[in-house]
Parts: sequence; structure tokens; C-alpha cells
Amino acid sequence: MKIRAAVLREYNVPMEIEELELAEPREKEVQVKMLACGFCHSDASVWLGYIPQDVPMVPGHEACAIVEKVGPGVTKLKPGDRVIGCWMVPCGYCFQCRRGRPNLCEISMKHFQEGNLLDGTSRLTDKNGKRVGMGSFITGFATHSVMPEVGAIKVPDHIKLPPEQLCQLGCSVATGWGAVVNVAKAREGDSVAVFGCGGIGLNAIRFAALRNCNPIIAVDLEESKKQIALDFGATHFINSSKEDPVPRIKELTGGAGLDYAIEASGDPGAQVQAWYSLRAGGTVIAIGIPSIDSTTDIPMFYAPLHAKTIRGTLYGETHPTEDLPSLMEVMNTGALKTDKLVTRLITLDDLDEVREAILARKVIGRWVIKYD
Ligand SMILES: NC(=O)c1ccc[n+]([C@@H]2O[C@H](COP(=O)([O-])OP(=O)(O)OC[C@H]3O[C@@H](n4cnc5c(N)ncnc54)[C@H](O)[C@@H]3O)[C@@H](O)[C@H]2O)c1
Ligand SMILES: [Zn+2]
Ligand SMILES: [Zn+2]
Repeated sequence: MKIRAAVLREYNVPMEIEELELAEPREKEVQVKMLACGFCHSDASVWLGYIPQDVPMVPGHEACAIVEKVGPGVTKLKPGDRVIGCWMVPCGYCFQCRRGRPNLCEISMKHFQEGNLLDGTSRLTDKNGKRVGMGSFITGFATHSVMPEVGAIKVPDHIKLPPEQLCQLGCSVATGWGAVVNVAKAREGDSVAVFGCGGIGLNAIRFAALRNCNPIIAVDLEESKKQIALDFGATHFINSSKEDPVPRIKELTGGAGLDYAIEASGDPGAQVQAWYSLRAGGTVIAIGIPSIDSTTDIPMFYAPLHAKTIRGTLYGETHPTEDLPSLMEVMNTGALKTDKLVTRLITLDDLDEVREAILARKVIGRWVIKYD
């Protein structure tokens, strides 16, 4: 079928909206119509080539969609089901999957990089009949897509939230949740700072608040992020363009520093500040993804002497197929404030403007494509 999609053909060049051909779903795949897809900072980084993925491809990895057609062998989904796309689809058999780290699935990682589905091919071709890659098993910047059944998590009928909120489960909610709950295993009273109060950071703040961490210090370069960070549960806000956050964090933690510094900006400067903000025994949880060639100047002297840890995390160690259904129920209670997270509805034609805005740190919360 013919679809419309934003195609990334070259890094750092505006994406054109093209008409593409979407092939039929194959074994254990579903064809979907997109309902909503968030614009994550990682999309801007892929666009710039900071997170290199093979081009041409159609990005978009934070999507809610409705099943239109099922391929052979599909047993769990039917036309009319709403689904959330997972951007890491565990194979179940590789070393990482067998070790209980499905978010690092080796098979998925290769397809993810190359823009293929699980059989190693794409379902998209352009008007010249040339292959176009599919973004992160989801291809959310397209009106329609084909996803693996196992990576399309069903939204039960009793959940009435709109798709622009539901899609957040696919990246920002899962990553923020996982960083706090799976990785930090944060407990009541743990001191936490979150560097970068965007879509991911706000969810980390929210889950730190639900876990009764204290203090929860939000750090951002933009004063415009203060109110939403406080609304999501931060106890303090530091504008790090006006003051050095490190001494202030020390002061707010009785001189000790943090149990957890959650780095959710990807900025090398914030990574260093996060490191200096730790108490002895503390951990930097590195969510933010800097450019592939970026380096950070961290004095390792304090790693042994203060027993500090830097812990990177992909998808917050989420096991998408296990965790998204229960997170969905939590979201349905309103506790995650996803109605406040989604601050603007956009269209496929706005993507250039959105990229510029997110790079200029002007996006508050999440901007989400809403499809007709
Ligand atoms: N590890 C993962 O699995 C994963 C998943 C999704 C996103 N990410 C990454 O997480 C990061 C955040 O994504 P997002 O969608 O929330 O981005 P965003 O653009 O919505 O938010 C980033 C925030 O960081 C702030 N910021 C920028 N530089 C800063 C600095 N030096 N100090 C403090 N704040 C600063 C910005 O003002 C903004 O509020 C990105 O790097 C993204 O690629 C990682
Ligand atoms: Zn993302
Ligand atoms: Zn695997």
C-alpha cells in the first residue's frame, strides 16, 4: 500500500515527506496505522548522525498505533487492537536475552542499526523501488507501518487514554521508569538529581517522586523547565546556566552529595557535573546519549577512593514485552501525569521545526505527532 513518511536520506538535512510503498506483513508481523508518535531527543540525534543509523530510513520510535491487518502466524493481535511499539524487540535466544537483558538483545541491536525487521529485511521501498529502512522496529514517522507482533504491545480496551499519551510508554516513560526503578532501585529517602528535564528526565523525576526519594533535585540550563519539573515532583530546581549545580547539590544534601545522579541530557558538561555531585558510594545513571565522537573528562581518582559508579542504561533495562503492560496500568491511574507531559500536538510536516526547537532546548515536556 502507499503511505506517507518522513525519510531521512542524509544526516543533518531536512527530511522530505515522501510517498512510499509498504509491503504486506509477513510471518508474525502486523500492519498498523499510526495514531501518535512522540519526538524524542534521540530522533534529533539520529537525524544529525550523532546516533548513527543506516540511511535512508524512516525514524520515529515512540508510537501508538492501531492494527489493520495481521500476517500469518499472528495469535495475540487482531485488527482494531491498539498497540505500543517497542524499539528493542528481544529475540529470546541470544546471549543477552538468555542472561535476562533483553533490552540489549544482540540480534535486535543489529536490525535496529540497519533499519530492518526481525527477518533482516525492510517492508519499505521508495518511488524508484529502492529499499528504505524502518526506524527501530516501529517507523513512527510514517502514516502506516509493519511491526513484529512481539514488539507491538496491546493496549487493553479498558484503557481509554489518548494515543498521544499512550505512545509515551514506548520510550520516555519506560526509560525514565527503568532508570529509577530497575537501575537505581531507588528507595525512600534516597537523594536524587536529574540533569535534563525533558521527556526522559521528567519521567525519572516522576518515578523518583513516586518512590519517595528526597531530595529530588531537577537541574536544567533552561528556567522554562522549572515549573514542569516541580509539577512532576522535583523538590528543588537548579538553573545550571546561572549557578554551578555541584555546590548547591552538596548544600541541599547536607554536604554529602547524591545517591543517584540521573543524567538525562546527554551533554558532556552535565555528565561531569553529575559525577562531582555524587556522595561516596553514589552512582551516575547515564541515560543521555551524547554524539558518538563525544568524550567526557571525569577524574577517575574518585572512582576507587569514593567508590563511585557510572552506570549506563539503555531503555532503562526495560523488558518491553513484560513491563509495558503493567506500566500502562500505572499510567492509566493518572499517577504519571502524562496528560501534563504532552504539551503540543504536531504533524509530520512540522518535524523540521520540532528538531530545531528540541536542539534549542525550547521543547517543554513532549511534542507528539497526532495522525488523522
Ligand atoms: N538511554 C536510553 O535508552 C535513552 C532513551 C531515550 C532517550 N535517550 C537520550 O536521553 C536524552 C534526553 O532525551 P529527551 O527526549 O528527554 O530530551 P529533551 O531534549 O526533551 O530534554 C533534554 C533536556 O536537557 C536539558 N539540557 C541540555 N543540556 C543540559 C545541561 N548541560 N545541563 C542540564 N540540562 C541540560 C534541556 O534543556 C532539556 O530540558 C537524550 O540524549 C536522548 O538521546 C536515551
Ligand atoms: Zn526515545
Ligand atoms: Zn536476543
